[in-house]
Amino acid sequence: MTEPTATAHVRKRLVPCRECSESDLSQRARWAGGETLATSLMAKALANPDLVSLAAGFIDQDTLPVEPTRRAMEAIWSNPVRARAALQYGTTIGHLPLRKILMERLLAADGQTARRMNVSTDQIVVTAGSNELLYLVSDTILDPGDIVLCAAPSYFVFLGTLANLGVRAVGVEADEQGIVPEAVEEELERRRAARELHRVKAIYVISYYDNPSSVTVPAERRAALVDIAKRYSNGNRIRVIEDTAYRELRYWGEDVPSIRSFDPEGNTVVMAGSFSKSFSPGVRVGWGVLPPDLVEPVLSQKGNIDFGSPNFSQYLVWTLLEQSLFDDHVATVREGYRRKIAATLEAADEFLAPIDGVEWIHPTGGLYVWLRLPESVDTGLSGPLFDRAVREGVLYVPGVYCYPTESPRVPKNMIRLSFGVPCRDDIRRGIEALARAIHQVL
Ligand SMILES: Cc1ncc(COP(=O)(O)O)c(C=O)c1O
Repeated sequence: MTEPTATAHVRKRLVPCRECSESDLSQRARWAGGETLATSLMAKALANPDLVSLAAGFIDQDTLPVEPTRRAMEAIWSNPVRARAALQYGTTIGHLPLRKILMERLLAADGQTARRMNVSTDQIVVTAGSNELLYLVSDTILDPGDIVLCAAPSYFVFLGTLANLGVRAVGVEADEQGIVPEAVEEELERRRAARELHRVKAIYVISYYDNPSSVTVPAERRAALVDIAKRYSNGNRIRVIEDTAYRELRYWGEDVPSIRSFDPEGNTVVMAGSFSKSFSPGVRVGWGVLPPDLVEPVLSQKGNIDFGSPNFSQYLVWTLLEQSLFDDHVATVREGYRRKIAATLEAADEFLAPIDGVEWIHPTGGLYVWLRLPESVDTGLSGPLFDRAVREGVLYVPGVYCYPTESPRVPKNMIRLSFGVPCRDDIRRGIEALARAIHQVL
């Protein structure tokens, strides 16, 4: 097996440590190795402490849930039986009362019943963040050389997970409503013609307030994606991996039923959820709803790695949900982000809209604004804009990192801005600085 194909912009630099030569490392370590985007951006931020970072997808520092967490901890400590259980090992699949609440909440959000959705707590797995779930599922269903269809653009950490496994991430056209089902079907036909259809194992979709594009996939497309995955599953099964990390961060508009709710047998969709964006990434609790045939294989992998995600965090989240502390907190967080996104869009209207060729998708949730600059502007780390932006005082994520390695087209003029961390004044300062930098390169 050769190294998975990778376009130059995302190929990571392999930096073997002094003690071990490259050949001492496993193939997977070599696929995974090198300096990551986060490391490069972090280094810039550390070297320039006055920089406004509109890069990191972190959450708002001021609304981190200190008080709800303290109250939930008190509730745990006031009950010695619960406290001791929380401090003990748990099960690989996760704490049953937490899994029950997760299932009830999912059914309520989707307006479904367990029977109609063919789901039970046996299919709900708790993980250390949803990244662990995404990794475990990928490791369970994908071999090196397999193909996952991803929206172009997509969540770059998951693209890294696929690279780590030697899996080919193939980009599919996405528009203001997310991944385009017709384009998925065309890509599957292309793979069929190339006798590669059997290598396509999954379609990855961030169904709510996508990272980086902030779009939400509408109901008709959700149904169409499940239908396509089923129709093209001949011999090998094509799963839809539904990533719902931002579902709770809705600022305007109505919620949409999950893609999983369009898969009543529950054999096609793998759903991943997270408490990182809605509550706290430090707690590291994520979860998944697995098709019945994947439960055992995923748990076998998980057991070999962690035999249970941190039990204490699971008790904490369970208590937060049980006592409505979570829901009260989410309402506060939404309000805070609604103000921040308004500040972001206001600053964009004032400073970016007057620049010819600058446009963006208007987000209704999530943490990101996906900006298109004039085609002549290369936003990459070694392009002319990035250093000027840093000198003017702002950091952003260059769009190229969000494109799957095999994308039909990788535009160089895209930027992901995140409004999660900076305060409203800094957001304004950062966008003004970005506009100055763009003017300079034009
Ligand atoms: C789309 C998406 N999925 C999953 C995650 C992973 O979150 P966690 O592992 O903290 O649950 C993130 C984090 O940024 C994300 O943006």
